[in-house]
Amino acid sequence: MHRDDFPMLKQDIIYLDNGATTFKPQSVIDTMDDYYQNYSANAHRGDYSISYKVDVNYEEARVKVARFINAEPEEVVFTSGATESLNMIATGFFDNLLEAGDEIIISNAEHASNVLPWFRLANKHNAIIKYVPLDANLHITLDAVKSVITPKTKIIALAEITNVVGDVRPIKEICEYAHQNNIFVVCDGAQSVPHRKTDVKDLDVDFLAFSSHKMCGPTGVGVLYGKKELLESLEPLSLGGGMNESFDNPNEIYLKDLPQRLEAGTPNIAGVIGLGAAIDYLESIGMDNITIHEQKLKSYLIDKLTKLPYIQIVNEEADSGIVAFNVEGIFSQDVAFFLNKYNICVRAGNHCAKILKNSIGVKNTIRVSLYFYNTTEEIDDLVELLSNKDKIMKEMI
Ligand code: ALA
Repeated sequence: MHRDDFPMLKQDIIYLDNGATTFKPQSVIDTMDDYYQNYSANAHRGDYSISYKVDVNYEEARVKVARFINAEPEEVVFTSGATESLNMIATGFFDNLLEAGDEIIISNAEHASNVLPWFRLANKHNAIIKYVPLDANLHITLDAVKSVITPKTKIIALAEITNVVGDVRPIKEICEYAHQNNIFVVCDGAQSVPHRKTDVKDLDVDFLAFSSHKMCGPTGVGVLYGKKELLESLEPLSLGGGMNESFDNPNEIYLKDLPQRLEAGTPNIAGVIGLGAAIDYLESIGMDNITIHEQKLKSYLIDKLTKLPYIQIVNEEADSGIVAFNVEGIFSQDVAFFLNKYNICVRAGNHCAKILKNSIGVKNTIRVSLYFYNTTEEIDDLVELLSNKDKIMKEMI
């Protein structure tokens, strides 16, 4: 779908690493280019026309993001990416709330960005990290979450879709149960927001983090969503220009209202405006159409791979367009290197989910992560190459 919109797809390349980052459509590139070429002023500062235009477009991008996830604009904070968003939540909000013995629930399928900030917080406060058990198909059920909750549980931090095994978690049900028990839910949406409709009000999630570059937008921009009453007490990690109302001495510092209070310094203006254009683009395709197309491709790929006896699929029951596998007896990176000779881009390794090996029994995998612009023909080309194990062995080095 829509391949002509992407300059990168004019190259002789099969790109199956969309979990890492996606390609950018011409409209996003043009929007950013327009900012740099035609009104390259700072935001929230100037009293002249091009600066005013920056303000309008920057804030319009916030409104687009808010609409896209069904939030209020003041609940949308621009960050450098999901990683920064998650760190801001952990350090800016929970550092003040956590006490010794409190429990933080994660899973061992989380990306490093949704593990390490919690490890640090737990170490600092003598809190306890607990892991939701994954079932045989590497999914998380509400019952599994309930099984690790105790009266000491304060935070549940889970991705809605994980970046290696592509399972979709029941975030809405988890939020409902968690809130009945006074537990906060933080959702890492880096792999879900780009691929399916997101409605923070319906999910009732407390915080959500995601990145622009995984959804056709530029790198270096992300979003921190939080319920307004929670963001109000999120301590800004950075202080500086743009976020303060006034200051005269150390005892008189007055900060701006949300969301500016959490956006110190000159923001990534082109990036934010580019993210707005990416949202326009995704909405013009339709998030449901994106999900449906990826589901079809994923089933097509799994169906083909299961016919190859030496392919070990890690997540045959994947819910999304992420499929992880190994070629028996061959190191995953060697397979990726072999595929690269034929201009096929896949990611190999542990994919920043370094404790997942405890559940899947293997440290490294080859990961195919699909997006709406991938095709069955591309999958055919991939599978044809994987169909010849002798060729892989011969050509991998
Ligand atoms: N988080 C990105 C991935 O899964 C980089 O590849």
